[in-house]
Amino acid sequence: MELAFKPLHPHFVAEAGEIDLRETHDDRMLERIRDGMDRFAVLVFRKQRFSNEEQIAFATRLDGELHRKTGISVLQKSRFGDEALTDVSNVGADGGILEPESRRRLYGLANRLWHTDASFQDPRGRYSMLAALVVPPVSADTEFADMRTAWDTLPEATRASLEGLQVHHSIAYSRQTLGFEFSEGENDRLRGAVHPLVLSNPRNGRRSLYLASHASRILGRPIPDGRLLIRDLMEHATRPELVYRHAWSTGDFVIWDNRATMHRARPFEDTVHRREMRRVTSLDTGDPARVAQSA
Ligand code: OGA
Ligand code: MN
Repeated sequence: MELAFKPLHPHFVAEAGEIDLRETHDDRMLERIRDGMDRFAVLVFRKQRFSNEEQIAFATRLDGELHRKTGISVLQKSRFGDEALTDVSNVGADGGILEPESRRRLYGLANRLWHTDASFQDPRGRYSMLAALVVPPVSADTEFADMRTAWDTLPEATRASLEGLQVHHSIAYSRQTLGFEFSEGENDRLRGAVHPLVLSNPRNGRRSLYLASHASRILGRPIPDGRLLIRDLMEHATRPELVYRHAWSTGDFVIWDNRATMHRARPFEDTVHRREMRRVTSLDTGDPARVAQSA
């Protein structure tokens, strides 16, 4: 069986044809999905019905090792019993919608900042795979920005000046910009990580800007200089023509490449309407096909 990809945006993002990812074990089909990721950086799959275990198993088949040192795990243990599965819902352990002052809610609000997943870790995140289980009756969309076209559309002299720069990413930093405070003990566990500003996909050589609201400074530069450069580049990367907005339906499963995109949640009345989403993120270690085979 072939898998078709229908582009949803002029530069990136495609919708995959009908497939049940729970049943996708075939190496050829997994490789076809990886090729689609290399081409489009964001793939939308419809009508998926994963259990938690099936979502984790699929993510491992597709891309190998999973990210388990999530920022939220520093605040509280996952209610699913595996830190690989991040609860991106506005629902607490008791099943009710989170209170306005709930710490988990306030922490999660930072998803409304442009970011990549797990850039504050080393190894960093590669693919994120987000399943929509309960979608509210109002729009509660997610936006994606194309960081490859962002790189391609910078003037050549700017690109040359950015080569070789290293950026520090910290989840404590992005939360603090919203006034969310971590305790000293939490801060100790959230040191952050350093990554190149410019990444290149080893499978196809495509280069991208690697940035996020977690990006706190550029190594070797005075902090305000670095922060201003980061802001300018993020502004460049999130111009409307580089942004795709996803309106979720129940059963949607979206995979994005964190090396090649940024994303952000859009605001909605999250203390009124229930929205349940679950995410697994893989780590950027080795070639996906080889890593997945040995996992
Ligand atoms: C995520 C994320 C945005 C959203 O799951 O990593 O940022 O709209 N989600 O829920
Ligand atoms: Mn995210």
